[in-house]
Amino acid sequence: MYPVGWFLAVFLAVGTSQLCCAGPLHAQCKVEWYFEIPCQVVYESLVSQIKMWGTMAGCTMGGQRCLYKLQSASAHFIAAKHTTPFKRYVDDINFRLVSYYFFSCCHISAMSISETWYAIKDHGTNYCNLYNLMEGSGLTEARGYKEVTSDFLCTQRSSANCTIY
Ligand SMILES: *[C@@H]1O[C@H](CO)[C@@H](O)[C@H](O)[C@H]1NC(C)=O
Repeated sequence: MYPVGWFLAVFLAVGTSQLCCAGPLHAQCKVEWYFEIPCQVVYESLVSQIKMWGTMAGCTMGGQRCLYKLQSASAHFIAAKHTTPFKRYVDDINFRLVSYYFFSCCHISAMSISETWYAIKDHGTNYCNLYNLMEGSGLTEARGYKEVTSDFLCTQRSSANCTIY
């Protein structure tokens, strides 16, 4: 009999070398965004964009700018779902908004997670779920726009092509 510790050691060695270094184990994405505009403006832009992309219409020419569904929205937290057209995978997305500098600036922690547990590679879909809303609502052009993320925080972030995904 091998001691339990031996299995654990092998599991950890295989796990860390093959999976962890490539990014998150489950297809997901976490992004921090910073703006020099009030959270109220960011909030309204995101919520109206989610509603605008509620139907399939935005994807008849390709892309994934459609099938968003608002779950809940309050001044500091927005939750929604995004369904990929055709394959119908569902991803859960949320935005946490925090004001700073006397409400003149806004920090957003955004997260997108695939509901399908076996989805490890997502071609950057989870990143694009979040980025497309930012870009579509014009927030990427807003004053002080800054994005902080990485391939470790976002599955396949660097190879993501949000025109397609
Ligand atoms: C993304 O995909 C579109 C459509 O296939 C293509 O035109 C564009 O060049 C791609 N962009 C990048 C950065 O690969």
